[in-house]
Amino acid sequence: MKKLIVGNFKMNTTVQEFSLYLDKFLPLIKNSKNMVALSLPYTHLMLASQKLVSTNVIMGCQNISTEEKGAYTGEVSNLMVKDLGAKFTLVGHSEIRKKFHETNEQINQKIIRALSVNLKSILCIGETKTEKNNNKTKQVLKKQIEIALKGLYENELKNIIIAYEPIWAIGTGKMPSVKEIEDNIAYLRKIILDIFSQKASEKIQILYGGSVNSNNFASILKSSQVDGLLVGGSCLDPFEFAKIVN
Ligand code: PGA
Repeated sequence: MKKLIVGNFKMNTTVQEFSLYLDKFLPLIKNSKNMVALSLPYTHLMLASQKLVSTNVIMGCQNISTEEKGAYTGEVSNLMVKDLGAKFTLVGHSEIRKKFHETNEQINQKIIRALSVNLKSILCIGETKTEKNNNKTKQVLKKQIEIALKGLYENELKNIIIAYEPIWAIGTGKMPSVKEIEDNIAYLRKIILDIFSQKASEKIQILYGGSVNSNNFASILKSSQVDGLLVGGSCLDPFEFAKIVN
């Protein structure tokens, strides 16, 4: 089965640097058997929409506003990114949850906004080290999913992808074992089963993210529980990222 590999650029590269990146990256992955997506800064979407035409790479952004439009200085709306050709947005990335005190309720509002313009959401969830040490992982994941997906109909899940990213694994070089990743993803599927159905729990795409690199990706991707990867730091080097994608 095809896996989905998403590169999250975070706040890195100027548009010019990104353009040079694509010149190197696109030829390397043009025959990839996997699906490739780039989660970009807003400033890069216009260029990406031009350079990614007739390639196998889809583009998205890293956040959207909970609001539709109006007096929200500094925010960017669902329609604005959709208009530039974004196919998805990350929602609930732990860096945004933390820095901007984003709540699960706001994440739910963002998902509903995204759905309203047919934009997919990559919903990021995960536990902190303290929560893990206190055996709270499952409780935290359940709450994050239940609130984020509140009010959604099952047929809307085709526009939702879940990224399981333990917060302690993001940018740290630390990682859970493949067995732990599988157990937690199996648990996420169980939550989806309880809220929606068996079919929904089997169909929903669930990615793993947190310190993925070209040395450790293969064993994670081999797991049938894992539908793909969300890659931060390692996606910034086109050669490194191409190894993961291919
Ligand atoms: P990382 O980031 O790969 O640098 O750990 C992952 C993410 O934040 O999505």
